[in-house]
Amino acid sequence: MQNKIALDKIKLLFYVTLPEIKKFIRDFHREMQKGLCGKKSSLKMIHTYLRRPTGAEKGRFLALDLGGTHFRVMLMELKGNGKTGACPVKTFVLKKKHTTGKGKALFAFLAGCIGAFMKEHKLDTQARYNVGFTFSFPVKKKDADSGVLIRWTKDFSASGVEGKDVVKLLNIALKESGITGAKITALLNDTVSTLVARSYTEPDCDVGVILGTGTNACYPEKNGEIINIEWGNFNKLRRTHCDREVDRRSGNPGEQFLEKMVSGMYLGEVIRCLAAELLPRIELPRGFKSEYVSVIEADTSKGLRKTDNLLKKVGIRGSKHRDRKLLKKACVMVSARAARLASAAIASVLTKMDPTLSRRHTVAIDGAVYEKHPCFSHRIRATLKEIFGKDARRIKLVLTKDASAKGAAVIAATR
Ligand code: BGC
Repeated sequence: MQNKIALDKIKLLFYVTLPEIKKFIRDFHREMQKGLCGKKSSLKMIHTYLRRPTGAEKGRFLALDLGGTHFRVMLMELKGNGKTGACPVKTFVLKKKHTTGKGKALFAFLAGCIGAFMKEHKLDTQARYNVGFTFSFPVKKKDADSGVLIRWTKDFSASGVEGKDVVKLLNIALKESGITGAKITALLNDTVSTLVARSYTEPDCDVGVILGTGTNACYPEKNGEIINIEWGNFNKLRRTHCDREVDRRSGNPGEQFLEKMVSGMYLGEVIRCLAAELLPRIELPRGFKSEYVSVIEADTSKGLRKTDNLLKKVGIRGSKHRDRKLLKKACVMVSARAARLASAAIASVLTKMDPTLSRRHTVAIDGAVYEKHPCFSHRIRATLKEIFGKDARRIKLVLTKDASAKGAAVIAATR
């Protein structure tokens, strides 16, 4: 009985009510407005100096994508009419020494990857190539093809990069490795690439969202310029003691509050904290991955056998069925809250552009949390329905995979 009362209390703590969602939307609009006017706000509302493509763009372009655990290089052929040709891509794994070591070494590594890709595809390193560079961190921009890193997120901490123009740093590294022809003509965020990649084939698309290691979104303002919201830093939120603990232990305490409640990098950590309270007998290891959350929530096997196997894999033996049921509940509470908050953020962006939702909107979404979690996308749809009623039919959510690199190539073509 005591346990049941404790569990019900926690459930309430993690449940985001509809009035709370409505307040979220009002606060989000206020923060957007302040950010747009250059006032202090948790939403940076970064001007990108970029617009959506027309679909007519043509040619061969190089695309680079840095934003999480991998660096990708892609060569993409655009044929016009929203059509694309072959687009070979190579993915390089970033090690901790790259993401947390010296910035110079990180950029030298990136240049090395570009060189290896060009060699493999027999591209002349001296010939001119327009390059789009997707860099998925908050940058301050004054034009389309440069950007100063404001602050690393997602536990990157490579030294000597914050406060510097990342395009300059990459250009220096490219020159040093003998690649003289590649010209970075656009620097963009992964949300912008997602929006751009989708709108090349679907001109209705007007929101780009990432729900992956980190989270963020962008949309075109009234004049057509794409604004990178950097919504991961939204902070008008009701946080729990678990959120505070995760924040305290993170590499960037006091920042990215929404990201720490929604994105894949932190979901496992919030669950770990909650599980420590609900299941003191079981201590989940640090770095409890969000992939595990997907496995546990999808587990319908008898006695939650799959969850047991997973727990054994992370070194926890002898869990009881009762423990596993509680763990599954903890996963559901935390990830359902994440989906409701993500829906509230999407609803805020849509109603900023179209307060009465009088038009159709396509929201392009990329990221492992949206793609891989068994219930995330359904929960987002259900919450949008709760917020907008029948009008939610005007919102189309589309998974737009691998858009981070593709969008960079499309943008390079517009420059
Ligand atoms: C970064 C954003 C990025 C998002 C998704 C956040 O941590 O600040 O720039 O778009 O992650 O990758």
